[in-house]
Amino acid sequence: MTNILSGKKLSKEYRTVVDKVLVFENINLEIEAGSATAIIGQSGRGKTTLLNILSGLDRPTSGEVFLNQERIDNKSEKDLSDFRNRNIGFVFQHHYLLEDFTALDNVLIPLRIGGKKIDPETADWALELLSNLGIYERREHYPDQLSGGERQRVAIARALVFNPLVVFADEPTGSLDKKNSAMVEEMLWELKDKWNKTLVIATHNMEIAKKCSIIDLG
Ligand SMILES: Nc1ncnc2c1ncn2[C@@H]1O[C@H](COP(=O)(O)OP(=O)(O)O)[C@@H](O)[C@H]1O
Ligand SMILES: [Mg+2]
Repeated sequence: MTNILSGKKLSKEYRTVVDKVLVFENINLEIEAGSATAIIGQSGRGKTTLLNILSGLDRPTSGEVFLNQERIDNKSEKDLSDFRNRNIGFVFQHHYLLEDFTALDNVLIPLRIGGKKIDPETADWALELLSNLGIYERREHYPDQLSGGERQRVAIARALVFNPLVVFADEPTGSLDKKNSAMVEEMLWELKDKWNKTLVIATHNMEIAKKCSIIDLG
């Protein structure tokens, strides 16, 4: 089994003008390729902080993060953002599709941000993703012309367009009703089981957590 993501002696302290907050100290973790991991713990225990550090959105105060054997916490801002764009997918609770762009263009956004030329081959890959997700017919629709489930699928296609190694989700079902929560859950398992993605999910949702390896921040 391959270890795809690891944290070594991770500590995080936030310093503000008035105080210092030690969020966590000396966390060691190893995450296997193709697995699902839930970061759980009460509000304020550092779930978002840890997720952001593991996904290269933030840096630890001390310690090291390796993704696919490559150390990421000491990369420059620019290298880190390129690396994130190419290797990491994010699933958001509210899809964050851009309303002025079609489904297809929404899927292509990470490639545009990554400065990749949208050649015919790339466009074909995006269309193949939409097709695989059953929304090819909707490719020219704008988000407000899509159902909740279809929007969700566009968001999955977007998370997959760079074929990322790891997909991160921060409280993906946090404020959703039962039906939408079930939809997001289904999408997460599809990312894992059908697309073989490694998942790291910060969550309060025990239905999700019980299907994952657990990192409990207390
Ligand atoms: N940018 C920041 N500056 C200072 N303190 C922060 C910052 N972000 C988070 N914190 C503090 O760090 C702790 C962990 O926050 P967070 O990671 O958001 O927890 P969780 O996601 O588990 O609710 C909290 O006490 C929070 O107030
Ligand atoms: Mg949080």
